[in-house]
Amino acid sequence: MEHPELRCARVDLDATCPIDHIQPLVDELLADDAEDELALRGPRRLTARITRVHPPRVTTPFRAREDGTYLVTGGLGGLGLQVAAWLVERGAARLMLIGRRGAATEAQRAAVAALTTRGVDVRVIAADVSRRDELARALATLDPRAPLRGVVHAAGVADPSMLVDLTPARLREVMAAKARGALHLDALTRDFTLDFFVLYASMSGLLGLAGTGNYAAANALLDALAHHRRAQGRAALSVDWGVFAGVGLAAARDDRERARYSAGMRGMSRREGLDALERALASGEAQLAVAPFDAAQWVESYPAAAGSRRVAPLLLRARADDRLTTVTTARARLLGASAGERAPT
Ligand SMILES: NC(=O)c1ccc[n+]([C@@H]2O[C@H](COP(=O)([O-])OP(=O)(O)OC[C@H]3O[C@@H](n4cnc5c(N)ncnc54)[C@H](OP(=O)(O)O)[C@@H]3O)[C@@H](O)[C@H]2O)c1
Repeated sequence: MEHPELRCARVDLDATCPIDHIQPLVDELLADDAEDELALRGPRRLTARITRVHPPRVTTPFRAREDGTYLVTGGLGGLGLQVAAWLVERGAARLMLIGRRGAATEAQRAAVAALTTRGVDVRVIAADVSRRDELARALATLDPRAPLRGVVHAAGVADPSMLVDLTPARLREVMAAKARGALHLDALTRDFTLDFFVLYASMSGLLGLAGTGNYAAANALLDALAHHRRAQGRAALSVDWGVFAGVGLAAARDDRERARYSAGMRGMSRREGLDALERALASGEAQLAVAPFDAAQWVESYPAAAGSRRVAPLLLRARADDRLTTVTTARARLLGASAGERAPT
């Protein structure tokens, strides 16, 4: 996304392929096509496609089990508290909310108090999920009579940076909560029979987003982990959220700005998010992206990325859209103009 001048592609090599058998990779490097994410498996060349789906509305609302405990990492954050309250609405009687600082602010303490006044046993634990020992200690406090039934991994930090400015430390910091935390959760909850294991990921990991190299990578790992777990027959759902209006990581931005479409995405409300989560859980998919998405506007923001075959099915409707034609024409006019002529063009 940041380097449209390069033909960037992700090639996933076959782990069983001998190290000196590099011809397929060479072929990919020299290929002049629009595949930007593919996997080589023996003679097969597997390509990825993003398509629109509309999971049906659920007819039987999700019910939490009264006898279980539900863990929300990042549970004191904007979206963490929302999903915690939703679990309670759906019958959860025991919650474990984890954040590095616990309930540190007045608003967080009030939100927890609101849940406890409804008779819910809310355990707030200050722990860093990227530290295996701290997470293991937290899980060790679970009441064996109320075993873990569901996990929502919503811990995360963002540190926007263009790739050229990214340092190992900034990469590590953003990977820590999301990626390392998810891997620890995956390992440490292995002995529980979970009804769901939901990873809060982001559209940035799926579509890319300029300035989020570290964050996008961490989110892409969550998507991969969900598929990996499902391949093992374990519960998993990675939700690649778009942006929420006025909550959590995106709250620093102006609400009015979030409520409009920006670079193809409009800010979602709490209700839209939770409805989508319920439908995503019922869909049985391992990975779903959720965002009010205007493909034509996204193309305007990322004209080079829009040429990718991976996103082509998503843009089908947009291709019929007049605006796309206008963008292409405007782009062609700009490219055809000399430097001095570009501003008036
Ligand atoms: N808000 C959005 O529009 C949006 C869009 C797409 C995806 N998401 C994803 O949704 C998740 C929740 O986002 P949010 O908007 O609710 O953000 P938020 O309000 O900042 O909440 C994130 C929480 O994670 C906790 N956290 C960070 N690092 C941690 C660690 N190492 N161990 C334990 N807890 C940690 C933070 O608490 P402490 O600082 O006390 O640890 C914070 O309360 C994130 O993964 C985010 O990437 C959000």
